[in-house]
Amino acid sequence: MNTKDSAPTSRNPRLKPLTENILLVGFMGTGKTSVAEYLSRSLSLDAVDTDQMIVSRTGESIPGLFRSHGEAYFRDLETETLRSLIGRKHLIVSCGGGITLRAENVDLMRKIGVTVWLTATPQTIYERVRTSADRPLLNGRMNVPYIAELLAERLSRYERASQVEVPTDGLAVPEVCALLTERVSSYTG
Ligand code: S3P
Repeated sequence: MNTKDSAPTSRNPRLKPLTENILLVGFMGTGKTSVAEYLSRSLSLDAVDTDQMIVSRTGESIPGLFRSHGEAYFRDLETETLRSLIGRKHLIVSCGGGITLRAENVDLMRKIGVTVWLTATPQTIYERVRTSADRPLLNGRMNVPYIAELLAERLSRYERASQVEVPTDGLAVPEVCALLTERVSSYTG
C-alpha cells in the first residue's frame, strides 16, 4: 500500500488530499447551499458560494446582474470566480446551478477538487424554490414542466462535470451529508 496516497490531510483526517476541496453542483433547489453549510461544520471546511462571491465582488444581486448585464456577463463572472479558487484548500464550494454549462468551467473544477452532483426530481425542486424571487431563470416560469425541461437540457452537463452523485429527494440535510461523505470517501478510495 502506498501510504503517501492514503495519508489524511492535516486539517481533516476524514478526507484524503484529493478531497481537500469539494464542489457541489446541481439544479437550483437541490440543496447545495444548505449542504455546504452543514459540511463546512462537520468536515471543518470553509464554505464558499460562487453566487455570494459574485454578489460581494460586484455589489449587485443575481437578479440585478441578469437584468442589467445579461446572462453571458454573469457566466463570465462565474468563470472568473472559479479561476480565483485554484490553489485554495479546505473548501466546500457551492456552485450556481448553471456553472456546468461552460466546458471551461468544468476544466477549472477538475483542477479545484472533487465535484458532487446533488440531484432531485422536478417536483421536489419546485417545492423548494417556488417562493424564491432570486432565480431570474425561473421568473414567470415557476412551474414543474418548465423545471423538468431545463433540468433535462442540463442533465448531461451535470453528469459530465461530476465524479460523485448524491440524491436529495426525501432526505434531510444531515442524511444527504452522510451519504455524500460516504460516496466521496469511496470515490477517492
Ligand atoms: C442559476 C442558478 C442560481 C444562480 C443563477 C443562475 C442557474 O444559483 O447562479 O440564478 O443557471 O441554474 P442556485 O443554483 O444556487 O440557485
